[in-house]
Amino acid sequence: MLENYTVYSTKNLSGEISVPGDKSISHRSLILLSISTGKAKVENFLESDDCKATCNILQKLGVKIYKDSNYAYTVEGVGLNGLKAPKENLDCENSGTSMRLLSGLLSAQIFPSFLVGDNSLHKRPMDRIAIPLIKMGAVIKLSDKNTAPIKISPSKKIISIEYNMEIDSAQVKSAIILLALYALGKSKITEKQKTRDHTENILKYLGVDITKKENTLIINPPKKLVSKDITVPGDISSAMFFIVAGLITKESKIKIKNVGLNPTRIGGIEILKMMGANIEIIYKEKKGPEEVGDIIASSSNLKGIIIPKEYIANAIDEFPIILIAAACASGKTTLVNAKELRFKESDRLLAMSKGLKNCKIKNNLRDDGIEIFGGKIHGGNIDSYDDHRIAMAFSIAGIVSEGSMKILNTKNISTSFPNFYDLMSNLGIKCEKKIES
Ligand code: S3P
Repeated sequence: MLENYTVYSTKNLSGEISVPGDKSISHRSLILLSISTGKAKVENFLESDDCKATCNILQKLGVKIYKDSNYAYTVEGVGLNGLKAPKENLDCENSGTSMRLLSGLLSAQIFPSFLVGDNSLHKRPMDRIAIPLIKMGAVIKLSDKNTAPIKISPSKKIISIEYNMEIDSAQVKSAIILLALYALGKSKITEKQKTRDHTENILKYLGVDITKKENTLIINPPKKLVSKDITVPGDISSAMFFIVAGLITKESKIKIKNVGLNPTRIGGIEILKMMGANIEIIYKEKKGPEEVGDIIASSSNLKGIIIPKEYIANAIDEFPIILIAAACASGKTTLVNAKELRFKESDRLLAMSKGLKNCKIKNNLRDDGIEIFGGKIHGGNIDSYDDHRIAMAFSIAGIVSEGSMKILNTKNISTSFPNFYDLMSNLGIKCEKKIES
């Protein structure tokens, strides 16, 4: 049985919404507070399948994590060396972030671990973490295809590393940082393009000596991390769906409150602004480890652009919805140097190309990108390829489509944005759920 949604075209969107907590920061808050000394609260935690998978794993490793109220959790840190051997396999479900970050942490432990996930996660590349972690002394075994399941055995010694990142990946960088906390001596990581730096920001907030000089990061292994409460800002990657909804519909204005505005995450906003988007940002006083503010998106006449290469890493999760904006823009939009999109929860270049063709939007798929010719989006049946962001992107396309848009297999949306369709309805967008075989 599949959960499918039909979205009907709607004009004149207006209102104020809040999107759930940031996925990357929710994972990292739980992981880092688990190995801290003392008790602390995580507020506005993202209660999605991916973040719950991280929470379950940490609990299996002996960390006490309690739910205080909706979206508020207390974590009783066990210290850097207090994790316990799990009695069973550690199930990361669909979450690449859980698998990659926890592999770094578990490589430093005196007990073995076995990390598994769902079919989609078992297809994603894991050699990208295994290679640097093994260089540091980790004992890791992957499948013959360099994917999960991941078997981690205790290491004799973790040594520091000087590593030049080959791909732009915050998950790989964070896995190395987590293991570097346990290394003998300082580690250095150099990135080609800066990727999201939430791991670094939270570590600094918890008292770790971690410094940044341009694209190089230096991690000095700490004696301890000191627990401190964290409020997770709204997820800009979730906000982007409603930002684009506001831009592409006529006579619309949507305000999204308390969104994380970390400079390494706003590449999507920069790209939309280049396309002529009418977006206003109101920054708020910084209280925790991250910048926060409100975003107002109003109806805009978007135009096609060549997406600058340097924006890609900081907009990596936003391309499904940016490509919908490109479909609504006048002229051609070109994306290249974006091969990483083929290794996400689905092959996002292929999924977008096929979906847009179903909506009668002309596009040319390339090995590392796509060219999109803006036009009139038509309704149709769209396969989500079991990918939350593909499902949400085409749901937003349905708001402006001629004829209704049916998105097949939308259950995966609960991995990152469980109340997505509730927020659509709150804004007056007509959408209907059907369970079908
Ligand atoms: C994430 C990093 C990105 C992103 C993912 C979350 C993170 O993945 O696509 O959704 O939390 O570090 P990569 O590191 O593979 O680019």
